[in-house]
Amino acid sequence: MVRKRERRVPPSSEQRKDPFETATRVDRTGDSASDRKLVTSFVLLCIVVIPAVSVLFYYVKNTPHATHTVSQENQRGLIKTDVTYQEILTEHTKVSENASHRHYTYPILAYITTWNSKGYEMAKRFNNKFTHLSPVWYDLKSQGNSLVLEGRHNADIGWISALRKSGEASVLPRVVLEAFPKELLRKKTLRDKAIDLILTECQEMEYDGIVLESWSRWAAYGVLHDPDMRIMALEFIKQLGHALHSAPSVRNSKQQHLQLVYVIGPPQSEKLQAHDFGPHDLQSLSAAVDGFSLMTYDFSGPHKPGPNAPLQWIRLTLQFLLGIRNSAAKSVARKIFLGINFYGNDFLLSEGEGGGGAITGRDYLNLLEKHRPEFQWEKNSGEHYFVYSDDNDDKHAVFYPSLMSVSMRLDEARQWGIGISIWEIGQGLDYFFDLL
Ligand SMILES: *[C@@H]1O[C@H](CO)[C@@H](O)[C@H](O)[C@H]1NC(C)=O
Repeated sequence: MVRKRERRVPPSSEQRKDPFETATRVDRTGDSASDRKLVTSFVLLCIVVIPAVSVLFYYVKNTPHATHTVSQENQRGLIKTDVTYQEILTEHTKVSENASHRHYTYPILAYITTWNSKGYEMAKRFNNKFTHLSPVWYDLKSQGNSLVLEGRHNADIGWISALRKSGEASVLPRVVLEAFPKELLRKKTLRDKAIDLILTECQEMEYDGIVLESWSRWAAYGVLHDPDMRIMALEFIKQLGHALHSAPSVRNSKQQHLQLVYVIGPPQSEKLQAHDFGPHDLQSLSAAVDGFSLMTYDFSGPHKPGPNAPLQWIRLTLQFLLGIRNSAAKSVARKIFLGINFYGNDFLLSEGEGGGGAITGRDYLNLLEKHRPEFQWEKNSGEHYFVYSDDNDDKHAVFYPSLMSVSMRLDEARQWGIGISIWEIGQGLDYFFDLL
């Protein structure tokens, strides 16, 4: 089952102006002619539009250049652009014998969801590769005049204790702040209550802290456009961070306090909007927050098919958030977990309205078996894709990570000296974990 990460953008009036919309709509409404035409329009999209947007978006100076190094000898020469479906089908389950050896030495946060239970297995199998594990378990909701933290029924104590026997990773369940933000942010009693619920859950369940997702909700409710509310929103996160930091960790005597990792999204357009999380927000929260999980994916969607996370856009996002070159920026960079998707997308091209959506590794392998596609490598986005026709003769384009694309993103993160976060480890192919 596939469920995508919560959308970052409110589906309302504040949608970003979409520079891709035009390009892809033209492609779709044109007579749904030949494969070649589709492929050409994709290549155009990737080669022409992305760089153009990138230039418009931010003019980048001093961006570190990713020189890709194929260093892992255990990858059997598989990290390359000219991949074939046969090779993927025969190799994807083969992983290095030593599942503990880390190739990526900065922190790695892995999300695990209840709807892709393979993630629980992968967390155990590659336990030592991860520094932070975030099972997606909790929602903090409004209930009458108060609040309730839902999700303890998801918590798998046996799994946590198995992990702790064989590894060091912090367990930080994700909490989504669903509660009505206007009330929550305005009323001190509710803010205190929210913090108390989270703190108590961490202590009773012996978690190492939490990953909090609230910014996208606040943006969706429009509260970030109100300058006073925006300040209260940031203050709330700080208050939560300080509360967690002052609480001793029940479990771990080495680590003095509970941790807060905060989920943030990339900016939505070239001009910073009130609902965007910007570099000053990052600085302002840096003392209260232990890490920022940056959602650098979902660049494209069913209405504008294309790469999931173009490499240039990832660079621009990092440049935007971390570009201020001073010592404060340097210390905050160490807290970034760059988002890498382990899911893909299967977009329907023939339909006028757009269709299709996220796929898991399992879905992807089924498509390879059935359609035996020919892969294309798109240099500017640094992603593989292929086009196929389904039983109704409708055209699809599939973008799913490859060893090459994942490895380029790891190289990028390595050059910035930052951590990575993976959404989510139940959806990837086994041999991706060899890169970590
Ligand atoms: C596996 O990797 C770990 C971490 O690098 C190392 O300590 C260990 O000795 C390795 N085990 C084997 C059997 O090579």
